[in-house]
Amino acid sequence: MKQKINQVRVLLDALPYIKRYANQIFVIKYGGSAQITPELKEKFARDIVLMYLVGIKPVVIHGGGRAIGDMLERLKIGSHFIDGLRVTDEKVMEVVEMVLSGSINKEITALLNEYGAKAIGISGKDASMLEAKPIDMQKYGYVGELTKVDPQVINKLIAEKFIPVIAPVASSNENGHPGFNINADIAAGHIAASLKARKIIFMTDTPGVMNSEKEIIHTLNEEQIKTLKANGVIDGGMIPKVDACLDAVNGGVMKAHIIDGRIEHALLLEIFTSEGVGTVIKS
Ligand SMILES: Nc1ncnc2c1ncn2[C@@H]1O[C@H](COP(=O)(O)OP(=O)(O)OP(=O)(O)O)[C@@H](O)[C@H]1O
Ligand SMILES: [Mg+2]
Repeated sequence: MKQKINQVRVLLDALPYIKRYANQIFVIKYGGSAQITPELKEKFARDIVLMYLVGIKPVVIHGGGRAIGDMLERLKIGSHFIDGLRVTDEKVMEVVEMVLSGSINKEITALLNEYGAKAIGISGKDASMLEAKPIDMQKYGYVGELTKVDPQVINKLIAEKFIPVIAPVASSNENGHPGFNINADIAAGHIAASLKARKIIFMTDTPGVMNSEKEIIHTLNEEQIKTLKANGVIDGGMIPKVDACLDAVNGGVMKAHIIDGRIEHALLLEIFTSEGVGTVIKS
């Protein structure tokens, strides 16, 4: 009986948040680094479906760095990184598209559907949602920088109660072009801004943004981010993430969160409890 009462309390505590967030768009970047076990993926899917069932409108954008690396290795295609970006020649681009728009996108979509949502997996190429140009063709190949974000198809899917699941691949406006590999964090930031989302949440493999003493930083602003980047405390895969947080909040999103996707139900803790988890960046 006592346990049952506690369960009801948990529900009641979540009520104000459920009310506040009803009908609001939340963009969730599901990092490759948080897609590490089947159990975690299932819990992620359940959390998204719960959000959806209480009236939040989730939009999922996924990464997949590790899975791309594994597939390149299986196919014995060599690749390397410059400045944290995977140098993407035509062969690598083929694998990027196979893994991101193919296996990972459909795996997440199928899981969400299994748990009771109506999810649709698309890539940035669909309905010309994302268009890009090379950052530096000589240096990085088909790694793109976004030139256009058209949220129309996402808005249509949301209006029809679908959960869009987006692979960060963009088209070029050239005929027969293989397309571009886009950093998923940057894509998520721009998409969130174009949708005027309420929140953007990055699920990754650290408790949040850490300081030089390896302690979590609970809140960050633009100035602090500049300093932490300049002295190398924010480094590697965290750089596009904080940049994307700033793109989002400067583009009208109220809050950006970086949370630990390895923790069970981290998403629900962030959204439905007063404590929150991880690092928050506000406008
Ligand atoms: N100050 C910092 N605080 C926390 N993590 C940091 C910091 N600086 C650099 N990092 C690195 O950023 C990493 C997270 O970015 P990473 O690109 O690896 O993951 P992801 O974006 O979630 O996954 P994917 O790129 O596959 O979608 C951390 O594992 C950590 O090594
Ligand atoms: Mg990353």
